[in-house]
Amino acid sequence: MKFFFLLVAVVVATAAAIILVGPLQHVAGKPSAASNKCALRTAETPDKLVCVCNATYCDNLVFDWPRNPGEGYLIQSSKSGLRFEVSPLESPEFDWCGRVDGQLLVQPGREYQSILGFGGAFTDAAGLHVTSMPKPLRQNVLESYYGEHGSQYNFARVPISGIDFSMRPYSYDDLPKGAKDYNLTHWSLAPEDLDYKIPLIKEALELVRTYNSSLKLFGSSWSPPAWMKENDSLIRGRLINSTQVYDSYAQYLIRFYNAYKSYGIDFWGGTLQNEARTAETYPQYAFNSLELGKEQAVEFLANYFGPALVANGYTKDKFKLMVGDDNLGAINDQVPYIMSHKEVHPYVAGLAFHWYNHYFMPYDKLTECVEQIKDHIEFVLMSEACKEPGKEKPVDLGSWDRGEEYASDIIEDLVRQSAGWVEWNMALDEQGGPNWASNWVDAAIIVNKDRTEFYKQPMYYALAHFSRFFRPGSIRVDATLDCAPGDKQVAAVAVHKKDTGHAVVNILNKSDQAKKLLVKVEDRSKVVRVQAKSIGTLVLKL
Ligand SMILES: *[C@@H]1O[C@H](CO)[C@@H](O)[C@H](O)[C@H]1NC(C)=O
Ligand SMILES: *[C@@H]1O[C@H](CO)[C@@H](O)[C@H](O)[C@H]1NC(C)=O
Ligand SMILES: *[C@@H]1O[C@H](CO)[C@@H](O)[C@H](O)[C@H]1NC(C)=O
Ligand SMILES: *[C@@H]1O[C@H](CO)[C@@H](O)[C@H](O)[C@H]1NC(C)=O
Ligand SMILES: *[C@@H]1O[C@H](CO)[C@@H](O)[C@H](O)[C@H]1NC(C)=O
Ligand SMILES: *[C@@H]1O[C@H](CO)[C@@H](O)[C@H](O)[C@H]1NC(C)=O
Repeated sequence: MKFFFLLVAVVVATAAAIILVGPLQHVAGKPSAASNKCALRTAETPDKLVCVCNATYCDNLVFDWPRNPGEGYLIQSSKSGLRFEVSPLESPEFDWCGRVDGQLLVQPGREYQSILGFGGAFTDAAGLHVTSMPKPLRQNVLESYYGEHGSQYNFARVPISGIDFSMRPYSYDDLPKGAKDYNLTHWSLAPEDLDYKIPLIKEALELVRTYNSSLKLFGSSWSPPAWMKENDSLIRGRLINSTQVYDSYAQYLIRFYNAYKSYGIDFWGGTLQNEARTAETYPQYAFNSLELGKEQAVEFLANYFGPALVANGYTKDKFKLMVGDDNLGAINDQVPYIMSHKEVHPYVAGLAFHWYNHYFMPYDKLTECVEQIKDHIEFVLMSEACKEPGKEKPVDLGSWDRGEEYASDIIEDLVRQSAGWVEWNMALDEQGGPNWASNWVDAAIIVNKDRTEFYKQPMYYALAHFSRFFRPGSIRVDATLDCAPGDKQVAAVAVHKKDTGHAVVNILNKSDQAKKLLVKVEDRSKVVRVQAKSIGTLVLKL
């Protein structure tokens, strides 16, 4: 075996002050020459930084994958202000355990799941902000997420009718109290679909086509019309247990997919129900929701919704229906029960879950659930995440901690078989809304009040390090940290992009000090110096 030892020429940031004046000494690398640099702005405190985009300027990354075997780059973002800083790998230097802080062994031969992708959600709130922007600014948001030089998102979640991040509570078939419409004669898409979601989705579809990518859309329902529910409300409550209602709700959902199809928008899949178990167990849940109990879920799926999907051509090979779509813990209660019923297997393709309970629950709850159902599903997908306020303020502009939490969560999920990670609202205002139920949260992109500029937060870059480089079809491979086994400050995950022969390793450094890491991929080794509080992507042509 022959080893190449390369030392990455990255100057260690010593003080945030340097960064505010200008970028770190940048090793001129071909890949970044054409890129627009982040226009850094300090938020509340000097360590909180955002990248500002306006109608005429927005940062991006023009990057060519290395072509020559052994050639590679490190792309870094850090608390100190690096954003997609590209450095070539150079300066071979021998170094071993003891002289490095850790060793990362990447084994392309040891394969796990295939990556499906990354993305965000076309909520009404995001749609309102983006469609009210001047055209060039709107284009910059879309390119930031879907463009070739942006995050290259290939997933998008689309709520089916109203949610909390809507300006009003609504369904597609709202009726006066006491009225019923089992045949759905009053069903129609809402102005929010026609004015916000459909135009933006079409623009995103156009963008991904320009670089031969594609967009996997999936729908999720929060609440059926109130008249289908026991408590006659969009908030919580159960479906009325009757054939008429089950039938009608199945058709209600199918109509959504068919209506979008009539606008040229084909869905890749959908979830059975958003946060059904959490709605049952969390009385403070004061917005659109449905307590779809697990028995009811089996009944509805096996006898109504599943057959309706098939009857409309949404067979499992063409339409990826996911169960779960709820938090760790909540999926553990619902999903194994649902999947213990053979009748639902013909319809269910995957398990979806949300990140929220990671605040207090071990990630192995996910593994526990996956282990019980893995023989009956094709994939696992993290389908919703955002930083919820708790006691903090909803939007903490420029927070690196929140970016780090994203990167850390993505790694924890990927190493537990998740095939991707889909964020929540693609854009919110500085309050973290609008949200008719005042359930404000943070987002990767925050739009200013008069919608003349927007701010890309550290969360945006944390997620983009994955969406941009862990491309769909890449295979996750073994990446093991040793030498410093006790070092909980460093986390890593790797994929093999087989179509082009690249290894990609994402390394999260939560430590306050820069670290030198030996990365070995097959017979090639690189020494990388990872910045303090950073996320680095190592791209290597094998
Ligand atoms: C837009 O951003 C660029 C880069 O930061 C800046 O030079 C320009 O003045 C901004 N334009 C407006 C109208 O603020
Ligand atoms: C609903 O549709 C069915 C089947 O087409 C029809 O028999 C029934 O009369 C309709 N009900 C109402 C209330 O329109
Ligand atoms: C996109 O795909 C088409 C068909 O596979 C191919 O002919 C074309 O060269 C591709 N374009 C780019 C930019 O990769
Ligand atoms: C709907 O049902 C739940 C319990 O199932 C209840 O707590 C909630 O308050 C109800 N909502 C309304 C508006 O009645
Ligand atoms: C629904 O009602 C039927 C019969 O009316 C009953 O057998 C079934 O257990 C009920 N299902 C649920 C989930 O309550
Ligand atoms: C992480 O950053 C710290 C602080 O600068 C540094 O000491 C450490 O070596 C870095 N870790 C890695 C793996 O590079």
